[in-house]
Amino acid sequence: MHWTTLQWLGDALSGQFQILDQTLLPEHEMMIELTSVDEVWAAIHALKVRGAPAIGCAAAYGAVVGARSGDISSVAKVLENLQKTAAYLATSRPTAVNLFWALDRMTKFGEAQTSTDPEEFLASLLTEAHSIRDEDDAMCHSIGKHGAALLGDGMGVLTHCNAGGLATSDYGTALAVIYSAIEAGKKVHVFADETRPLLQGARLTAWELSRRGVPVTVICDNMAAVVMREKKVQAVVVGADRIASNGDAANKIGTYGVALLAKAHGIPFYVAAPSSTFDMTLEDGSGIPIEERNPDEITHGFGRMTVPAGVSVYNPAFDVTPAELITALITEKGLISPVNSRNVKAMIES
Ligand code: MRU
Repeated sequence: MHWTTLQWLGDALSGQFQILDQTLLPEHEMMIELTSVDEVWAAIHALKVRGAPAIGCAAAYGAVVGARSGDISSVAKVLENLQKTAAYLATSRPTAVNLFWALDRMTKFGEAQTSTDPEEFLASLLTEAHSIRDEDDAMCHSIGKHGAALLGDGMGVLTHCNAGGLATSDYGTALAVIYSAIEAGKKVHVFADETRPLLQGARLTAWELSRRGVPVTVICDNMAAVVMREKKVQAVVVGADRIASNGDAANKIGTYGVALLAKAHGIPFYVAAPSSTFDMTLEDGSGIPIEERNPDEITHGFGRMTVPAGVSVYNPAFDVTPAELITALITEKGLISPVNSRNVKAMIES
């Protein structure tokens, strides 16, 4: 087993919800237990667990943690705990739609239950959370299979941030495409943008690819253009946090720039994501809420002051790549190309 991104050990009433603390990687590989809803909220907010599908899975298990906390003397009380937890966890991060999708699914599932036994009710909530995780894993493998066909033997592939097993239940979205291509016998070399300011590419993507034996070269974000001009990469594959119904895709800050560079160099730009990442209520990407994070991440990244005191800083965590820059969306249901409202609706609503 390579590693475990998140897991629930035991039953609903006394079991443990554990995550791999991603803020400690690559130096320390440590599973931590999240014992309260506050700890789940803080872990999501601080990116201890991160990446859109993994946030969804964490929220589902967090909902169980919340449902069993406090008064559980009746099904009505457990349901009230669940609803309060869902409302609270929904404030942990704004951009990845999987968070809201998973909380909504858990709440609706709870509201539809007819059990009169609180313990049985809690057990059914845990089963639903496990289903969310298992379905995510199945979707990731399916994304990998659909996407692998797009990569040729010997290709260099650029990725941004981490859309791998660490960002999902286990197998990844963008990295699933690479894993599947390699499993199909192709040689692939990955170029990982370091991904300022929190270095998900350098710390996480490079770590997980190394753990899975995939050759990887880390580059600073400002080197992507040169790597493309030197013909070291023949494709770009990234993940997404929220995709609007016209195919505009929000992903880690810097993705939009990479898409523009890919276009300038005639390199295909792919976005891999499960259907739980699509927000069909949004006509286009302008409605996607973009998280702004603490300026400290830029001024004091990883312990050193790198910006003079008092200087203003702008720290949006995501950007939106317009559909016209995306060669194809890779989903568990198949490829969407060309990327437009008609094709997105046909695939996602099928
Ligand atoms: O801020 P993060 O690390 O949660 O951002 C993650 C990303 O932008 C990923 O690319 C995205 O969630 C896709 S994960 C399969």
